[in-house]
Amino acid sequence: MSKIKIKNICCIGAGYVGGPTMAVIAYKSPEINVNVVDISEERIKQWNSKDLKNLPIYEPGLAEIVSATRDKNLFFSTQIDKSIENADMIFISVNTPTKTYGIGKGQSSDLKYVELCARNIAKVAKNNKIVVEKSTLPVRTADTIKKILHNSVSNVKFDILSNPEFLAEGTAIDDLLKADRVLIGGESNQSGKNAIKALSSIYENWIPKEKIITTNLWSSELSKLVANAFLAQRVSSINSISVLCEKTEANVDEVSRAIGLDSRIGSKFLKSSVGFGGSCFKKDILNLVYIAKSYGLDEVAQYWEQVVLMNEYQKNRFTKKIITTLFNTVSDKHITIFGWAFKKDTNDTRESAAIKIADELIEENAKIKIYDPKVSKNKILTDLNLLKSRDPKINEDSISVYDSPYDSVKNSHAIAILTEWDEFIDYDYNKIFDLMVKPSFLFDGRRIIDKNLLEKIGFKVYKLGE
Ligand code: NAD
Ligand code: UGA
Repeated sequence: MSKIKIKNICCIGAGYVGGPTMAVIAYKSPEINVNVVDISEERIKQWNSKDLKNLPIYEPGLAEIVSATRDKNLFFSTQIDKSIENADMIFISVNTPTKTYGIGKGQSSDLKYVELCARNIAKVAKNNKIVVEKSTLPVRTADTIKKILHNSVSNVKFDILSNPEFLAEGTAIDDLLKADRVLIGGESNQSGKNAIKALSSIYENWIPKEKIITTNLWSSELSKLVANAFLAQRVSSINSISVLCEKTEANVDEVSRAIGLDSRIGSKFLKSSVGFGGSCFKKDILNLVYIAKSYGLDEVAQYWEQVVLMNEYQKNRFTKKIITTLFNTVSDKHITIFGWAFKKDTNDTRESAAIKIADELIEENAKIKIYDPKVSKNKILTDLNLLKSRDPKINEDSISVYDSPYDSVKNSHAIAILTEWDEFIDYDYNKIFDLMVKPSFLFDGRRIIDKNLLEKIGFKVYKLGE
């Protein structure tokens, strides 16, 4: 059996997964050259920027690792063909968004970027390659990639592996360094086994061998979708209970604690919120729903679709709560939003609850003032405009974005906390109260503030889930 020694890696896609994952591989494998390539010149320029504050992604610990490896054995470029040609192993780490057109619109994954990568690899490859699916893909995608590669080139052998990524944003570096498990799916023939070994030996540089698990290709692809579906299901489950808590004087954190101490349930992912966001939960569940439907499994599809519907309900009822509490109208009232990112410690805003809630409030003619420590005005406007709810000019006139939380609350009728940034807990709420219109309302969609303390100051407080 010939052992494959990987010397050169190419990763196609320099995004939230490709960037941090390859930085950690380079950091832990100094003998391997890691080339991260992307079609976006802008993104690559940011990855190469001297000032590490300008990296395209904010992620605790990332800048330090990039600084230790960049231009030593970690390189960012737009030279996709050259990088593919030189690589022994190629990671496909491009985006796989929900399809916005044609068959499967609104549910199925759009695999056009993945297919483009496969065609590009087929066009350029001159020697044997291991191709690794790092993107989250529908079960059996490896079959498509294999067909494209094997029908395009005759004298080159390709082994396809599935190696889904489980990192969460905001904790990506920690998740990569101390992964609960690494999953590698591959074929059971000798060539497949050698490929699995080659990838496994890279992770073994820092992950204990017993945490690297191998499966067939299809179990690996499906497990990634199922992991996200189960995590999102827990959030929707506890959010459904938050509504019941509000009706019954129960407290959702107390319920979470009480059930989470049962070791069969476990305490994680039971934090009730204004709804889960992020680029993947909704898209991956909808993809699971689409796959189930395509096999005629309607009951399975409906079961999982409910997780997404509950999430939409949770966001929508939060907006309604603001409107009814503010005497049934927010027209021309100023509402300050604390937090635009979909969770703390990231600058990512994809599917953030804040987008939907701000959009619904603008529809009611509210004026929205926004403060987020890591998200720019440009990004906020782009997020709102992408919804196509109205003329972009109206969006621009309806929002103002601030660098200071205190400036953002001047003359506001209400504050809505939509991201759980730690700094929101420690603000001087006496000062904030003084700056606001009276009565001053605070809607805590993340359950981070001390309700009693704020009520003592004079705020009218709604804390979701109690
Ligand atoms: P992203 O949008 O941040 O990055 C994808 C990058 O791929 C972009 O920079 C884009 O320009 C580039 N790209 C697209 N097509 C290309 C091509 N043909 N050639 C070269 N570059 C190309 O996406 P992401 O968040 O990094 O997600 C990537 C994949 O990883 C998705 O399938 C996602 O579901 C999965 N995933 C994401 C996370 C996460 O936390 N974001 C975690 C686990 C898995
Ligand atoms: C999630 C998974 O946790 C990762 O394992 C997975 O790799 C990734 O999706 C992916 O495939 O993209 P991520 O979306 O980055 O990671 O962040 P999470 O920590 O999972 O949070 C998702 C959303 O759920 C956030 O809006 C968060 O605020 C919310 N959430 C999470 C809650 O409302 N309550 C909780 O108890 C946990």
